[in-house]
Amino acid sequence: MRNNDFNDVVQNRHSVRNFDRTVKIPRFEFKQMIEETITAPSACNLQAWHFEIADTAASLARVKKYMMKFNYPQVDSCAAIVQLFGYSDAYKAYRKMWTKTYEEGHITKEKLDEVLSTFLPLYENGSRQMRAMDAIIDSSLAAMQFMLVARNHGYDTNPIAGYDANQVPATFGLDPELYVPVMAIAIGKSTKQMNDAVKTVRYPVEQNYHFAD
Ligand SMILES: Cc1cc2nc3c(=O)[nH]c(=O)nc-3n(C[C@H](O)[C@H](O)[C@H](O)COP(=O)(O)O)c2cc1C
Repeated sequence: MRNNDFNDVVQNRHSVRNFDRTVKIPRFEFKQMIEETITAPSACNLQAWHFEIADTAASLARVKKYMMKFNYPQVDSCAAIVQLFGYSDAYKAYRKMWTKTYEEGHITKEKLDEVLSTFLPLYENGSRQMRAMDAIIDSSLAAMQFMLVARNHGYDTNPIAGYDANQVPATFGLDPELYVPVMAIAIGKSTKQMNDAVKTVRYPVEQNYHFAD
């Protein structure tokens, strides 16, 4: 059942660490959720993210090998682990992406030339570290959007970075030079409507911001 109450989706999202083991998520729904997720913004629209979805006993067992022990309950009970990567070579498709945007009539030829001559060199001449940082930021926005999209689909999540990042790319047969692990997201349904989630507190709002006069 879809939850279209934006306030509830956002304000009542909490990390769930024990999921109903009987709940499976069909692959077509993962496709829908990813499609809804990738409307997230990204630097220069590079979309430098990649999702690996472990939703079988075999793939979840491989994921469990790189997890820290305290994250075993999520891996054991979730419907899937969505492992997010930043893809640091995303800029190589930049010309194609923006040319498509032009060919579909969304920007003028002048705008296309401007975009290609202004931004593409930043990536072509940038360091691997800069491209990785960019990809991590893009993927983090996608991660947050995915967790909210999941709530809209009636699922709960837990973002996870407690794992041995060095093992992650190889687990999915990916090149560690190009794919940077960003976070894993356990997804499923809470066993007792939200009761499995800790109601975490936040610092007072005043502590979080400052008007830079
Ligand atoms: C980048 C990141 C890494 C996290 N890693 C873990 C983790 O390894 N295990 C875990 O149980 N929770 C993990 N969390 C969840 C946080 O503990 C949780 O988001 C935080 O306590 C706030 O609670 P809430 O999500 O219920 O609002 C992680 C969250 C983020 C954003």
